[in-house]
Amino acid sequence: MAYSINSETINNATEVINQLSIFLRTAKVHNINNTAVISATDKFVSLVNNIISLENTIVLEIRGEYFYFNDYRIRYSPEYILNLDSLIREFKKVELGTIIIKSKISPEDIKVFIGLFLKSHLSENPFDYLKEGMSGISNIELKKIQEISEEILDKRKIATKTYFNAVSFYKEIFNNVKTNEKINLKKSKRVIRSVINQIIEQEQILLGMTAIKDYDEYTYHHSTNVSILSVALGRRMGMNHKMLIDLGIVSLFHDLGKIDVPNEILNKPSKLTDSEWGIIKQHPKWGVNAILKMRNIDDLTINAAIVAFEHHMNINHTGYPQVENPAALDLFSRIVSIVDQYDAMTANRIYRNNPMSPDITLRELQEKSWDKLDPLIFKFFVNMIGIYPIGTLVMLNSKELGLVYENNQDVLHRPRVIIIADNKGNWIKGSIVDLADKNGTDEYLRTIIKTMSPKQYNINIADYFL
Ligand SMILES: [Fe+2]
Ligand SMILES: [Fe+2]
Repeated sequence: MAYSINSETINNATEVINQLSIFLRTAKVHNINNTAVISATDKFVSLVNNIISLENTIVLEIRGEYFYFNDYRIRYSPEYILNLDSLIREFKKVELGTIIIKSKISPEDIKVFIGLFLKSHLSENPFDYLKEGMSGISNIELKKIQEISEEILDKRKIATKTYFNAVSFYKEIFNNVKTNEKINLKKSKRVIRSVINQIIEQEQILLGMTAIKDYDEYTYHHSTNVSILSVALGRRMGMNHKMLIDLGIVSLFHDLGKIDVPNEILNKPSKLTDSEWGIIKQHPKWGVNAILKMRNIDDLTINAAIVAFEHHMNINHTGYPQVENPAALDLFSRIVSIVDQYDAMTANRIYRNNPMSPDITLRELQEKSWDKLDPLIFKFFVNMIGIYPIGTLVMLNSKELGLVYENNQDVLHRPRVIIIADNKGNWIKGSIVDLADKNGTDEYLRTIIKTMSPKQYNINIADYFL
């Protein structure tokens, strides 16, 4: 049944969802009687009751990846997207699809609801648990989510396809430049646009793809990863769509100059000699040449050339190439410097028996490069990939081993993890657990006690992520 809805209610509806997500988050971290939780409760209740007096009923429903409020799809501005995402995930976790509020509610009603909601994931049938607990509150009705996990599988498939499309596109570009063919930047816009769409819809899945470091063709995957990570970072920094497309393209081409580095050097299994290093260090300059050979020289090509030239320079100009009177690094170069180093350090290269685990890489980057990388952008980066980035192998206090699967934006050190070995050391293809989940007495069910190198345990992340 469709409701007619006025614009004031639309604003209120958006606010209700936003407030609910803030409120849930606060309740998750604090005790339910904490003042912050109480004030969030009151705010939420008055918002809801305000709308009830205008509309009589509230039907809040999840369809796909969106909330519908009295049949009206809630549209979100970018700064609220993370709130919306995390709320939808919370609802799905307890299989809650619809909340119907039929008359004015009291703070007590909502307290009961939140208490049950937070505990329901401990139950084998979270929705039944929730519904039963709420049976005494007649003005709030709950309905189970109508969803099949196939939808999630499909999303993973689309994200995977987008990722490999980007890789093969870059491969094509690389080979075209090698054979001196002109490249068409129009096509790169198409490819990057689909990457951006996937980042908006499935950021965590796409970031997960960049965490798989066992691919054979490092150079192609590295450039794709740098592009994905840069765009995801730019999005977090609030860039608009056009800027994101530009950033995606220029970051994809940052290492184009490696075309002229002989393969024996690029793939050398042992340590490079000084003269070989000298050749590697030419790739920023060679990148500029390769990019300026493109079909049209426009702003975008110039930006790409700048990033290719600057991405190893460091903000304090201690890197290469060395130039006289250096200017401040371009914004895109600052972004690419960070994600480039991160991806290269975590990569599984032949000359490195033990790629660094993502969390240690982050720490090293922070310590060793505090004066080389842009500190503010680095902060955004850590916020994006979490303290334990996707793909980190972790030992839990339950003696289980897990792989970090998805970040938790609210509690960075409590990501979602796939259990891959049980507490007796048996390998299992276990379920995904949320380290932010608590037991009945408000204690966390599982906590990370240390991180380890997946390689040391012969673990292939791709087995779990693809
Ligand atoms: Fe490079
Ligand atoms: Fe690179």
